[in-house]
Amino acid sequence: MANEKKRLLSGIQPSGILHLGNYFGAMKQFVELQNDYESYVFIANYHAMTTIKDPKLLLENTIEVANIYLSIGLNPEKVNLFKQSDVKSVCELTWILSTLTPMGLLERCHSFKDKIAKGIAPDHGLFAYPVLMAADILIYKSDIVPVGKDQKQHVEVARDIAIKFNNLYGDVLKLPEPVIQSDTAIVPGIDGQKMSKSYDNAISPFDDEKTIKKQVMKIVTDAAPLEEPKNPDNSTIFALYCLVSSKNEIEEMRKKFLSGGYGYGDAKKELLDKILFYFKDIRKKYFELKNNRDYVVSVLKNGAEKANATALKTMKEVLKAIGIE
Ligand code: ADP
Ligand code: TRP
Repeated sequence: MANEKKRLLSGIQPSGILHLGNYFGAMKQFVELQNDYESYVFIANYHAMTTIKDPKLLLENTIEVANIYLSIGLNPEKVNLFKQSDVKSVCELTWILSTLTPMGLLERCHSFKDKIAKGIAPDHGLFAYPVLMAADILIYKSDIVPVGKDQKQHVEVARDIAIKFNNLYGDVLKLPEPVIQSDTAIVPGIDGQKMSKSYDNAISPFDDEKTIKKQVMKIVTDAAPLEEPKNPDNSTIFALYCLVSSKNEIEEMRKKFLSGGYGYGDAKKELLDKILFYFKDIRKKYFELKNNRDYVVSVLKNGAEKANATALKTMKEVLKAIGIE
């Protein structure tokens, strides 16, 4: 009996160095799920064009994310790892889907509204971003899409568009499910807001040790004096500590916070040690792969071939269904 695995798809934009939020909110899940799903994991370099206009930087960041994917343990024998732009038909599907996408659906997207609220002048790419993302998801007939909480709405947009397509043209596209890791739904940054490369509040496990230390030491705390008991549940230090420590270590740390006589400076030092310990092997591999670009590029090329084969199958059905072929 055929034992077909369900399909997982996800991507990360290569728009800057990746941080703990990206790792615990999204990427770690790809690694955990790679044995159970037929996985397609890509680097969303077309999406990153909405923010990066420097060609050299875009290319460098793209290789960097591929390196990170491999360092964190994605196995290229199991996972199709590729650059978004190597599957050209995704742009063709984007156009087709955009003819079915109500303006209002895109206007309601939080990520678009947030950027407008920050005063970023929107271009068409930023507005149409979720349609490209829908094409990414639907072209591989993905069953599940593991993402951080902030991307859930975009997966729902992909579902809405797929429903509209299927109602109009027949049952061609598969409805995807977002998968959100609830215990690490939002990783806080050093200022206590959501960690994000755009807020200058990130800690990246792929930086040099000195930079990681500087960021950890900058974590904002309240002004409670050393002797006073502290509430772990209001503390960014504790929230980050929980991500990189064992159950017992977390309980110990909780006790230290609650009993008083334990300062934030000491807690930050322990957090730093735990981050470096947690990422020890990953960092080692990362720095090795930095010197092995040819290997990283060859993995992407291989992944693109398989991704294209799957994408072209869907496109054949789509083009037939809509009356283009
Ligand atoms: P950023 O906010 O730094 O620009 P992206 O929007 O590129 O990050 O997010 C890449 C992936 O990482 C997405 O799936 C997103 O949901 C996840 N992610 C980013 N920041 C966080 C965070 N602070 N907590 C949890 N997940 C996050
Ligand atoms: N928008 C996602 C992000 O910023 C990246 C992305 C692009 C993506 N296409 C996707 C994620 C398809 C999941 C599925 O992180």
